[in-house]
Amino acid sequence: MAYQVNDTDLRDSQVADLLFEYMPKIAAEHRTDSLLLLMADLGRRIVQADRCSLWLIDEERNELWTKVAHGVNELRIPLTAGFVGYSLKTGQPVLVEDAYQDSRFDRRSDLKNNYHTTSVMTMPMESEGRVMGVFQAINKIGDNVFFSQKDLEHLKLISVYSAKTIESAIRAQKLEHKAEELESAHMELIRILGEVSEFRSQEVGDHIHRVSEISRMLARYYGLSEEQQKLIYYASLLHDLGKVGIPDMVLKKEGRLTDSEYTQMKSHSVIGRTLLRDSRTDLLRMAADIAGAHHERWNGNGYPDRLEGENIPLAARICSVADVLDALACPRCYKTAWLEEHVREEMKKSRGTYFQPELIDILMDHWDEFYSCYKPNGMFIKKGLLPPVKA
Ligand code: C2E
Ligand code: SIN
Ligand code: SIN
Ligand code: FE
Ligand code: FE
Repeated sequence: MAYQVNDTDLRDSQVADLLFEYMPKIAAEHRTDSLLLLMADLGRRIVQADRCSLWLIDEERNELWTKVAHGVNELRIPLTAGFVGYSLKTGQPVLVEDAYQDSRFDRRSDLKNNYHTTSVMTMPMESEGRVMGVFQAINKIGDNVFFSQKDLEHLKLISVYSAKTIESAIRAQKLEHKAEELESAHMELIRILGEVSEFRSQEVGDHIHRVSEISRMLARYYGLSEEQQKLIYYASLLHDLGKVGIPDMVLKKEGRLTDSEYTQMKSHSVIGRTLLRDSRTDLLRMAADIAGAHHERWNGNGYPDRLEGENIPLAARICSVADVLDALACPRCYKTAWLEEHVREEMKKSRGTYFQPELIDILMDHWDEFYSCYKPNGMFIKKGLLPPVKA
């Protein structure tokens, strides 16, 4: 990625910290007004802006409105005004260094609020293909004068999450299906956080989604309910969330880890569990179980707690099969991909030692179906390469 990253931009791990700080407040809040405020505040901290506002479309009045633009009461502007209107009209983000040098700028709000806008970012907020509003950040604070490309990426992340959350809240108010709808906003956050952790750990392709897909298949053949299968799918997206706390030097190292680096790396399971620990929903509690125990082994030789057999939460037992299958079948920064036959042998060999026997039986009985995500054309298998020797 060719980012132009400023020294003082937040790191992805800090972004994840902020998301986790706000997640419980956001999940507990059902009023649209207060959600706008919370989201704006989260946005302001993530992109380090003096002001952030979420503008929502008021279809009846053909206006955009926002409840709170940090210290200012409800504001209303025409649908076509300024950078916000531009983003709404074109569906494109805006990143400008000096608003007064840009013809799209609408000075009226500055005049009304006795404020001076300099740098601006706007991002359309879309949910299910529909633009519902615009997320705007004004005036970078701190050492940098302008917003960076990275800030724009972060604004995109929050916009997606905000759109989903607000839409769910609005729909919940209408339909009175609150619990269900807020759960779907939760899932959206989980998907986004999974992507944050994947982006950080630079894993090849869609590691996180494959592990989740394989976990769901295992859960299905294991006989779990549709509801449990769905929970396992979403919770598995966060299995390596703790890697956001591992330094790049270790995480992205191309060769073997030293003993002390490996010890550091292994702390990702405890870090993940700690991040998710205080969650109250079934989904996030399962995610905490998986993050904390996906490196435990059936025979008690795993980490961090050397849990054994059925003391390991079932969801973690399932996810560990998927995780290792994917680690072997795909190239990593520290290893090449294994050939299919070697992967199969290794998984079979680990039946009853690393993994619960029944799960390996399921994997072997439906091998072609499970392995199909590494096809077509052996996309992840570098033919002719011997498996790397690894202790
Ligand atoms: P990961 O890449 O997602 O790997 C997950 C698990 O798959 C590993 O957990 C291990 O149980 C299994 N696995 C991966 N590669 C191999 C292999 O070549 N042979 C066998 N038999 N199993 C394999 P583990 O060992 O606890 O590692 C956790 C994480 O630590 C890995 O996640 C990876 O991010 C990192 N890591 C492990 N070894 C190395 C290494 O030698 N170099 C680097 N740079 N990172 C490593
Ligand atoms: C505003 O800041 O009030 C919206 C107008 C604009 O984006 O220029
Ligand atoms: C295993 O024992 O199956 C995997 C351990 C490793 O080589 O990382
Ligand atoms: Fe892991
Ligand atoms: Fe993993």
